[in-house]
Amino acid sequence: MHRTMLKSKLHRATVADGGLHDAGAITVDPELLERRTPPSSRWRPWSGPRPARKGEHRMSTTPRTPVPPSLAAPLPMTLPRLAEKQRLGEPIVMVTAYDYPSAQVAEEAGVDVVLVGDSGAMTVLGYPSTVPVSTDEMLMLACAVRRGLQTPLLIGDLPFGSYEASDEQAIATAQRFIKEAGCDAVKLERGGTSVQRARAIVASGIPVMGHVGLTPQTATALGGYRAQGRTAERALQVAADALALQDAGCFSIVFEAIPAAVTAAVVAKLTIPVIGIGAGAATDGQVLVFHDLLGIYDGHAPRFAKRYQDLRAEMVAGVAEYAAEVRRRAFPGPEHTYSIDEHELRRLHEGLSAGGDPRGAAG
Ligand code: KIV
Repeated sequence: MHRTMLKSKLHRATVADGGLHDAGAITVDPELLERRTPPSSRWRPWSGPRPARKGEHRMSTTPRTPVPPSLAAPLPMTLPRLAEKQRLGEPIVMVTAYDYPSAQVAEEAGVDVVLVGDSGAMTVLGYPSTVPVSTDEMLMLACAVRRGLQTPLLIGDLPFGSYEASDEQAIATAQRFIKEAGCDAVKLERGGTSVQRARAIVASGIPVMGHVGLTPQTATALGGYRAQGRTAERALQVAADALALQDAGCFSIVFEAIPAAVTAAVVAKLTIPVIGIGAGAATDGQVLVFHDLLGIYDGHAPRFAKRYQDLRAEMVAGVAEYAAEVRRRAFPGPEHTYSIDEHELRRLHEGLSAGGDPRGAAG
């Protein structure tokens, strides 16, 4: 479904006073938009030039062949480009990632947005819910993802207990995700008091994504992990929360586990991109948890999580085959071992059989 938006819409969540991200009108020719920001303009930890290889001489006279634009790496996703995708009706693809390899996979697969979700508490850290994960743990995951990612927008999920107490706490935590992990934006859950926290973080210059419907950090208060907005009153509450988050300056909102018809009705009232998970097809994009979509996680997968691969079964089969080969001495084979010169081997055997102590002879 394609919502009509004002062409001149200026995204409110793009950082106040032109801070961290490109702020400005988004009615730019997509082609120009593609070429607008050189990749190097975004901060990247450890992204210096490749060190010269052994034997490679880099001289000032080395001819430089310019890379044709068509072969250049895709440009990083920005908030204006995201809004432009929404305006053009191009579905936004978002996925979670929690480490370097999953970030590389998301990068190569060409997704638009990567979320270091607090779902990582369960999928990679083994907690029973998202509640226990700490900011430091989330930052470690986010740093690893940052190292594997160049193009998608990177969003860090503020964990439970890291932003609710005050605006100051929320800003301080959000700043850590930007400064320490190189995230482009942060996400927080719920309406209510989170609306003011979102407003404060946006005012501090950090883009914020909201999250309404099923909000796992407060699932107990919602009556468990169940769909939200299934009565008119609860659906109106979802709408009120989403509109309040939009007014607070959020650049986008996740809708989780909401009836498709409710999503369609509420999305029509919003102007910012809505990313759905278990919220039907009326959203501007979709997000899935990496481990759910690839079938890596053995915990409970919600009904909305479509499984595109069954990698966990393949991983178990691979490790089991390795174990079996070791046990029947089929691994390692000659192709996995190093050789030694015949002469040196003979000398080794002589040294060992001479009866002396090899510790003195070695050197
Ligand atoms: O933590 C997470 O993975 C999320 C997504 C489900 C949106 O919040």
